Amino acid sequence: QNKEQAALLKLYADSAKLYQHVLLNTEAGESALKYLHQRGLDDDTIKTFGIGFAPPKQLLLDFFQEHQIDYQLLRQSGLFIENQAGELRDRFVNRVLFPIKDASGRVIAFSGRILKKSPDEPKYLNSPETKLFNKRSVLFNFDLARGAIRQHKSVVLFEGFMDVIAAYRAGIQNGVASMGTSLTNEQIYMLERVTDQLYICYDSDMPGQKATDRALKLLNGNSRLQLGVVQMPDGMDPDEYLRSAGAEKFTQVFEDGKQTPTAFEMQYLRRDLNLQNTQDQLTYIAAVLTQLSRLTSNVEQDLYLNQLVQEFGLDKGDLRQQLRSVTGQQT
Ligand code: CTP
Ligand code: MN
Ligand code: MN
Ligand code: MN
Ligand code: MN
Repeated sequence: QNKEQAALLKLYADSAKLYQHVLLNTEAGESALKYLHQRGLDDDTIKTFGIGFAPPKQLLLDFFQEHQIDYQLLRQSGLFIENQAGELRDRFVNRVLFPIKDASGRVIAFSGRILKKSPDEPKYLNSPETKLFNKRSVLFNFDLARGAIRQHKSVVLFEGFMDVIAAYRAGIQNGVASMGTSLTNEQIYMLERVTDQLYICYDSDMPGQKATDRALKLLNGNSRLQLGVVQMPDGMDPDEYLRSAGAEKFTQVFEDGKQTPTAFEMQYLRRDLNLQNTQDQLTYIAAVLTQLSRLTSNVEQDLYLNQLVQEFGLDKGDLRQQLRSVTGQQT
């Protein structure tokens, strides 16, 4: 059993090495290397994250067959697709490959990005679940970030590989990614063991905001982490913003742009509302009060009540009274 695990790990490590060799040192890797350079990654960054390239022509199968690797092991690795007849072929072709590592930094899976967007193929293709890869309980870059998380006493949660890498290049090295928009309880548990402060920095497009709202609710119910939200301007994701605005402005968003979960929710609640409209105003105020009723800090409640007073010209006493009645309904 353990022997099999070691053999799989060796297979993934060898694959990662081979894929990186193709990217950095071969003609087959030229277009992918150019693509990564255009996205702002230098060779050091590529090496730090172990990025590689699976060329258009299959590579791994021939390599491992030459090295007489056991067929059953290859089947289990998730690196191949099997046809009806049990024949294998490489799963990853013509994709930039991001190795996904466990908490100790051992490669356990890959995710491959296509070079050019296509309507017929997913942008990212991931390894299937295997004995070693359980997607729910992996955070991209957790192994590298762990030291910085401890040092900064906080972690930043991104959506994607390129966001973590962008932040890393800009000096924010305590970043991990949930690899998509659905944070899991297993991932929360991993983070809780190393820090008590989490900043969510998902894409600021609508799916990212929706996911932020969902993550905040999950975290509120299932963790004792202190929470904050960082949103890039103009619907961008962190990687896009770094490239368009530069490192200085990018890090400034992390210095100055941290929102409380409540401030984020208040902005999120108004996304589809027209606050010139009285009906929408009432909807918004009721929703905000429900949100505020969950806060344990009176000072924080007071802060947001003042904002409502200011924005809508309301009487604070009336708002307080309504807040008390909302709170009463909940207990
Ligand atoms: N993802 C995935 N499969 C997809 C799309 C996305 O697993 N078909 C995961 C990837 O980990 C990706 C993350 O979700 O990094 C965020 O998705 P998205 O914002 O769409 O991609 P980006 O990270 O912005 O990708 P890129 O910058 O390379 O276009
Ligand atoms: Mn630092
Ligand atoms: Mn996204
Ligand atoms: Mn994105
Ligand atoms: Mn992106």
